[in-house]
Amino acid sequence: MTVRADLAGDGRAVCLVWPDGLRREVGAIWLFDHADDARDPVSGQRGHGALALDGLPRIDAVEIDGPELKARFSPPGLERRIRLDRLRGEGGPSLELWPEPGDVAGPPPLPFQDYLDDDAALRAALSQLARRGLVFLEGAGGDLEAVERVVQRFGFVRETNYGRIFDVRIEPAPGNLAFTGRGLELHTDNPYRDPTPTLQLLHAIVMDDGGGETLFVDGFAHAEALRREVPDAFDILAHEPVRFTYAASSGARWSAQWPILDVDAKGAIRAVRLNHRSLDLALAEAEATERWYGAYLAFYRRLHVPEAALERRLKPGEVVIFDNRRILHGRRALTSGSPRWLKGCYADSDGVAATLARLDRGADQESF
Ligand SMILES: [Fe+2]
Repeated sequence: MTVRADLAGDGRAVCLVWPDGLRREVGAIWLFDHADDARDPVSGQRGHGALALDGLPRIDAVEIDGPELKARFSPPGLERRIRLDRLRGEGGPSLELWPEPGDVAGPPPLPFQDYLDDDAALRAALSQLARRGLVFLEGAGGDLEAVERVVQRFGFVRETNYGRIFDVRIEPAPGNLAFTGRGLELHTDNPYRDPTPTLQLLHAIVMDDGGGETLFVDGFAHAEALRREVPDAFDILAHEPVRFTYAASSGARWSAQWPILDVDAKGAIRAVRLNHRSLDLALAEAEATERWYGAYLAFYRRLHVPEAALERRLKPGEVVIFDNRRILHGRRALTSGSPRWLKGCYADSDGVAATLARLDRGADQESF
């Protein structure tokens, strides 16, 4: 059995039915604009401009030709082709939300050297990062450029006001609570920066025997639970922007405003931004302020229940890459005078998706 294709809506659409029963109606204008032969086969860039769509192309005839749909349009009397698998509309790997660590705590870290040398290991690591929001590597030793070398496999280091690569350790004159021995509640980094860095890397150089455990929590999983169980609180956090501010000792003052939950037009969560140290809420009427704090604390409490956290004492030589839009991180207090020393940097998540696309393509070609 092959796919069935019939014209619908007076040629304004085509109705497709696959042998497994999947049905899809596709608009003629979309087909004309997105057909495989309307776009460059490598870059996917289309050659025609949007004005070519004036007059709303209609389909005169459709035909299934092997793995493709063939459509003849009027105007302008052109024939175009598109692969049927594209029309099924099945996307890439879906997110694995983890309200509790469960399986996420399970897999052993991937070897750092394999990640650097072997594309299959790189693909495994980046795919874990894309699905679960974080991945651990081990065996980087005391290489002070390890985080930079990790990023070079998929993109570029994002330099910020903390430098290209930063140190997390107790400092005599700390410019941020991260550089003291204090415990840190769960947070995302740099919500006062626009754009906010999307990935963070931390590499354990020196660890001590007690304290300083790192905590990770899946913000998307708990935001979805909030949406189900306390929808009013979710709506407030998704729609009311709040300001975050950080002033550096140089006098530079970073400030940006967004809702705690960044939700797209279809309701999907794009990012969580939460950092109580740098929250800079505008003065408002007491009732509105109390309502906002009620929603904020409802979310904050959920994130901080002990069962939600993946808690790890990083071993020297371990590197963690995590999605700063999704995963909140924190740490237990350090012992007094602790030598704990991490190297960190930021990077951009679009390089992960771009590299996975390249590696997936290579893997597909190998399997044929
Ligand atoms: Fe942080």
